Amino acid sequence: MKLGFIGTGKIASSVITGICNSDLKFKKIIISPRNRLIAKNLKKKFKKVIIAKNNQEILDKTNWVFLSITPKVGEKIIKNLRFKTHQTVVSFISSINLSRLKKMIQVKSTIVRAIPLPPISLKKGPVPICPPNKKVKAFFDKIGSTIEIKDEKLSINFWSISGMMASYYEILRVMASWLSKRGVKKKEARKYISSLFLALSEDAVVNSKKDLKFLVKESQTPKGLNQQGLKEMSKKRTFKSITETLNIIHKRLYK
Ligand SMILES: NC(=O)c1ccc[n+]([C@@H]2O[C@H](COP(=O)([O-])OP(=O)(O)OC[C@H]3O[C@@H](n4cnc5c(N)ncnc54)[C@H](OP(=O)(O)O)[C@@H]3O)[C@@H](O)[C@H]2O)c1
Repeated sequence: MKLGFIGTGKIASSVITGICNSDLKFKKIIISPRNRLIAKNLKKKFKKVIIAKNNQEILDKTNWVFLSITPKVGEKIIKNLRFKTHQTVVSFISSINLSRLKKMIQVKSTIVRAIPLPPISLKKGPVPICPPNKKVKAFFDKIGSTIEIKDEKLSINFWSISGMMASYYEILRVMASWLSKRGVKKKEARKYISSLFLALSEDAVVNSKKDLKFLVKESQTPKGLNQQGLKEMSKKRTFKSITETLNIIHKRLYK
């Protein structure tokens, strides 16, 4: 199997790193010359990575192609590329839907949309795909855990959640910065916060059969610090604003 990536940015390099550190069987990964620095670094790091001269060369030489460009670039370049009928095209593009992709790709290739996120470089994290596809599922199961979604409308909800990643890290950053301003060394503050929230997330995963409201309840001592924290943040509309933010992102995606 020869894999190709059109667009070599953050998500492409995360997926490629995950692939190269997995036991997936493949001959080569052919990547775009853009971004030049990222492409060069990937080639240096992994011996099966080759940099193509241009995007068309990637399509001509591979049977699986990952579209890892921004929507704006996608709208500009996809329609001018020649895809092959028996090619599997996996699109990471957030806001180009399946029917638009089909129109742009023109030939009858297999098209699947997928939402990997950067921890895929560590072979971790869920990967929603739409529509369901056995081979694509088996592929992402080697570097994460695939969730097959039948209805594209439903998959938009998962795209909306993917837009909360930076905000999650910002919450961690604010807390680490707060700690370091109070005298904890920056490095120690970062380590404390990231490992604390990793442990809390692991606990949530282990208990994911239960409703999350049980964890919310169980983590509060009556009249304790967590009860106060939750009350204060609710008063400040923090949680309502999360729902509102998701609705706004969803609106942008669901046109
Ligand atoms: N980042 C994520 O966590 C994530 C997760 C899921 C899905 N996505 C989606 O994946 C796509 C890429 O996101 P990203 O975060 O990886 O963006 P990114 O880091 O900006 O990567 C986009 C890449 O496309 C390259 N590019 C620009 N014009 C090109 C062209 N004509 N031909 C080939 N490559 C070209 C850019 O190169 P230059 O730097 O040289 O311009 C850049 O390396 C987006 O649609 C995004 O919604 C991202």
